[in-house]
Amino acid sequence: MIPPGPRLPAAAQTAWFMADPVGFFESCHRRYGPVFTARYVGFPPEVYVATGELAEQVYRTDLGGGRAGEARRDFLEPLVGAHSVLTLDGDPWWAHRKLLTPPLRARQVAGYHDEITEIAAERIAAWPLGRPFTLRERMQDITLEVILRLIFGIRDAARLTRLRRLLPGLLHAGSAMTVAMAPPGLRSVLGRVPFAPYRRFLRLKADVDAILYDEIARRRAAPGGTDVLGRLLETELGDEEIRDELITMLLAGHETTATGLAWAFERLLRLPAVLERLPDDEEYLDAVVREVLRVRPVVYEAPRLLDAPLRLGEHEVPAGWYAGPSIPLVHHDPAVWDEPQEFRPERFLGGQQHTRSWMPFGGGRRFCVGAQLALLEMRVIIREVLRRLDLSVTDPAPEARRLKNVTLAPARRTRVVARARVRARAA
Ligand code: HEM
Repeated sequence: MIPPGPRLPAAAQTAWFMADPVGFFESCHRRYGPVFTARYVGFPPEVYVATGELAEQVYRTDLGGGRAGEARRDFLEPLVGAHSVLTLDGDPWWAHRKLLTPPLRARQVAGYHDEITEIAAERIAAWPLGRPFTLRERMQDITLEVILRLIFGIRDAARLTRLRRLLPGLLHAGSAMTVAMAPPGLRSVLGRVPFAPYRRFLRLKADVDAILYDEIARRRAAPGGTDVLGRLLETELGDEEIRDELITMLLAGHETTATGLAWAFERLLRLPAVLERLPDDEEYLDAVVREVLRVRPVVYEAPRLLDAPLRLGEHEVPAGWYAGPSIPLVHHDPAVWDEPQEFRPERFLGGQQHTRSWMPFGGGRRFCVGAQLALLEMRVIIREVLRRLDLSVTDPAPEARRLKNVTLAPARRTRVVARARVRARAA
């Protein structure tokens, strides 16, 4: 039996989803149970599951039949190219994944701790005091800098300045509907139309690529370095493949981590009892980060495009459809999480892991390769902000969740006022 779902026309489902993704998921869940079908304009039907156990069954298709890469390829290929772990499947995906994983393991990224601390401290020192500003952009500045210095390994000041200016524009242009949704067959034509957004995007991409290829050539001539680029240059990957993976890490790791941090402050500034225990208890800080990603997962789904039918209990999802967890629903499953709406870092203390039903980084073999770096960045940056500043919110009402590309972001971009700390927290 095909999983049930709203009978509304696809256009109405798409509009509802875009206006209020979590509300749409919750309503479908209430009405149709833990496995339901949504229909969006221009895409194959998508089956969502609402429990960790069902999600695991979908993730098991990573061993054959589920193509996470193809599910993303059409939108992402203009930006990340043809050699990206995000969009490859099968053997070519595995060949890249094997090479990208070692430099991003927990033990490796732990070596970035001090530099992330420095980057955060540098940036925080320039934040405005005593007047409202939005934290999300500030977090994007910090996470971009982490990627530029620790992943791309750029040290040259002029180059850093140029990339700081170009990359946000490239990401913005590359994820705009006019580029991501441009039919692949029409892309070469659109690239020649004067003033077309697609052409502007290509121009930006060419500027960024020129710098990256030059950097790759320079580093090949003088090997070494502890940054991720240095490590990738020791592998058999060619220049174009390395360029594609650098942009992949930028795309997958920049806005996501910044949005996770924006949510962390959106929540913490409304939870004085939790804030009180921060930032110096390391174990508690780690639990806070995990709880933030549970109650406000940044990425709302982790779909697979099925090339074989998938049985989920009494349901069968046909080949050619998408299947994947609705991450906000899995994270609020009352069978696993006691009072799921409550923010309780204690859930993650004392070795309690709930691994099966905690999936802010997806799962299966396609599990986020940058998860350890993201968790480290979140811990370090939260700690550095709280050590230096007293933040408060301008409006005590919680911020709504707004769809922003493939992420759910705070609607007011985490609006805060900062004041210098009267009594510095212990270093
Ligand atoms: C809080 C921050 C982050 C969140 C919430 C996040 C979330 C995710 C999710 C949900 C997926 C899909 C997993 C699946 O399909 O099962 C993913 C994949 C991926 N992420 Fe992250 N991510 C974050 C940070 C990062 C960082 C910092 C990097 C890189 C340095 C990164 C690189 C990637 C890559 C390359 C993939 C594709 C993996 C593959 O298909 O093999 N992510 N991420």
